[in-house]
Amino acid sequence: MSPVWHPFTQHGLGEPIPLVTRSEGAALYTADGRRVIDAISSWWVTTHGHCHPKIMAAIVEQAGKLDQIIFAGWTHEPAEAVARGLLAIMPGALTRVFFSDSGSTSVEVALKMALGFWRNRGDDRHRILVLEHGYHGDTIGGMSVGERGVYNQAYAPLLFEVGTIPLPGADPQPSYDALEAECAAGAAAFIVEPLILGAGGMLMYPPAVLAEFAAICRRHGVLFIADEVMTGWGRTGTLLACEQAEVVPDILCLSKGLTGGAVPLAVTLASEPIYQAHLSGDRAKMFFHSSSYTANPLACAAAVANLAIWREEPVLRGITLLAERQAQRLARIAANPQVENARQLGTITAFEIEAPTTGYLSEIGPRLLAFFRERGILLRPLGNTIYLMPPYCIDEADLDTVYAAIEEAIAEISAA
Ligand SMILES: Cc1ncc(COP(=O)(O)O)c(C=O)c1O
Repeated sequence: MSPVWHPFTQHGLGEPIPLVTRSEGAALYTADGRRVIDAISSWWVTTHGHCHPKIMAAIVEQAGKLDQIIFAGWTHEPAEAVARGLLAIMPGALTRVFFSDSGSTSVEVALKMALGFWRNRGDDRHRILVLEHGYHGDTIGGMSVGERGVYNQAYAPLLFEVGTIPLPGADPQPSYDALEAECAAGAAAFIVEPLILGAGGMLMYPPAVLAEFAAICRRHGVLFIADEVMTGWGRTGTLLACEQAEVVPDILCLSKGLTGGAVPLAVTLASEPIYQAHLSGDRAKMFFHSSSYTANPLACAAAVANLAIWREEPVLRGITLLAERQAQRLARIAANPQVENARQLGTITAFEIEAPTTGYLSEIGPRLLAFFRERGILLRPLGNTIYLMPPYCIDEADLDTVYAAIEEAIAEISAA
């Protein structure tokens, strides 16, 4: 029996854990010779496809030169190139790049930057506003600003208090009013997942709402943090989801697709006033955050290659094509009477299937997982919510296979 303890896995249920030996494009290959279609980009990280040759080559080349170097007081060309490459494609108001190593840490950094900003200006504001049903990672700060529920009940005593803004329904006014009131009371920052709340159930809201949220924060001087860890790198049809609302955040979190999904790396981008608030002759005002592998050169080399792919290849054209292919298949599945609330944002599709219980622990979740695993498809429903977030290179045949398996799963579940 393996001693490995897997994340988000109930080992007591005896789920089989396939051994994966190789990956390429939209597929994973198991030790027992099976090809598995990766319909969720291995937890939303893989953008262009697994083992992209240019990204792999960049890692190999870097491995012959410099593996790791402390990043406090030292620098290296791959990190400098990532920073330059990011500033060339990100909104102009974001001028500073702080490295870390996961989506969660990019969020921790964002929250600490926001509090450091206020404190260094002599204001002790510290209240963080969040959007209902949000998810920002599994560290203590990330959980604190995320939805409270089964994910984090056991750790609730460690989580800090936040102001929760309701996710707008048909009438967004109550959400705007709640945000106005919280901002007027002197919040430090508002953190949101722009346009789509991922782990909260692939819940979508329109660009106009995002734009109004940002405008309210701006009017009150409250910092606006966009967590684009999931939405960044084209998932929603544009490089950033914020673009669709013409919103420029004060702080932006990116990870996952930053390296094309090959190796862990994250950045938190900050606007100049946030950096300037930490700039001083006083060492007590520096930004107190680091981790051992900050800006690891191998990871940065992968990000440099990813940035080159975005510059040199028709990535957005591929994204548009995938969005169209997804739309055609979603329209078909939406006609299934067991399917509810079919929705799409860019390359992401999602819908609920009728089930006696809903939510993350809906009993059909594990049944669906097993059903798809047996058919060689990596899908991980969020309770009774099924979603697809494939790598951009997935072809029509693989997409058809995935949707056909979903139709079969629905038929089997409703017959049971
Ligand atoms: C919006 C968002 N923020 C933060 C995270 C945490 O990222 P990581 O799992 O890399 O720590 C995730 C992960 O899915 C996410 O979707």
